[in-house]
Amino acid sequence: MITNGTILRGEGLSKSYGRPPARNEVLHGAALSVRRGEFVAVMGPSGCGKSTLLHILGLMSRPDTGRLEIEGRDVLAASESDRTRMRRRVVGFVFQRFNLLSSVSARDNIAISLRIRGLKADRAEILAWLDRMGVAHVAKRKCTRMSVGEHQRVAVAVALAHRPSILLADEPTGSLDSANAESLLGLFRSVNASGQTIVMITHSPAAAECADRILYMKDGRIEGSSI
Ligand SMILES: Nc1ncnc2c1ncn2[C@@H]1O[C@H](COP(=O)(O)OP(=O)(O)OP(=O)(O)O)[C@@H](O)[C@H]1O
Ligand SMILES: [Mg+2]
Repeated sequence: MITNGTILRGEGLSKSYGRPPARNEVLHGAALSVRRGEFVAVMGPSGCGKSTLLHILGLMSRPDTGRLEIEGRDVLAASESDRTRMRRRVVGFVFQRFNLLSSVSARDNIAISLRIRGLKADRAEILAWLDRMGVAHVAKRKCTRMSVGEHQRVAVAVALAHRPSILLADEPTGSLDSANAESLLGLFRSVNASGQTIVMITHSPAAAECADRILYMKDGRIEGSSI
């Protein structure tokens, strides 16, 4: 459900790791723009900088140069406390791996995530999120006792439960079988249909097909788009 307005805009984003002579320049002026309510997939070869870009969009790391606006705000110029607030409230993040706290249950993973954000952890609402993701049956289970598919769906529930403006997901179907991947993508389509903006990295052409638009990344830049 795309509505008017740009929710996220990055320009000239560059990022390198390490110091000379071992400096690794990963992003070279990456630019992208996402509209409110849009579902965007990002594809590209391994190592081209997709996760690095997503971490910058999720305010978990800073680019060396460039400009980043989220909901019309220049987030790179914002104070560290404003960035922390936005990281907690505006974006929801599904990491490529290691998504959940391993020593607590699925239910408590959501409750802790909500409390960190200063939000009420309502038990019925938490269960409703798990149910919506098809994982209500693991509510009381630690993630060490879940299948990979269950873990991934609980991670999506954690990322969505605080109702972020933008869901950033790094290969959420990467370790799922086709049935679980299809079910996760169905959930993404359904939350997107109710207005959730999604940016999803994927290696799967079938997963990318679910998006409104596919961005192709190569050598640290967005090189093209499906439309
Ligand atoms: N913290 C880090 N320190 C040093 N180099 C890093 C770091 N994170 C990533 N890199 C390097 O940056 C490059 C891009 O990594 P990134 O994780 O963004 O790639 P990717 O496109 O997400 O790949 P994949 O599809 O395999 O997940 C790689 O060469 C990687 O080795
Ligand atoms: Mg990656």
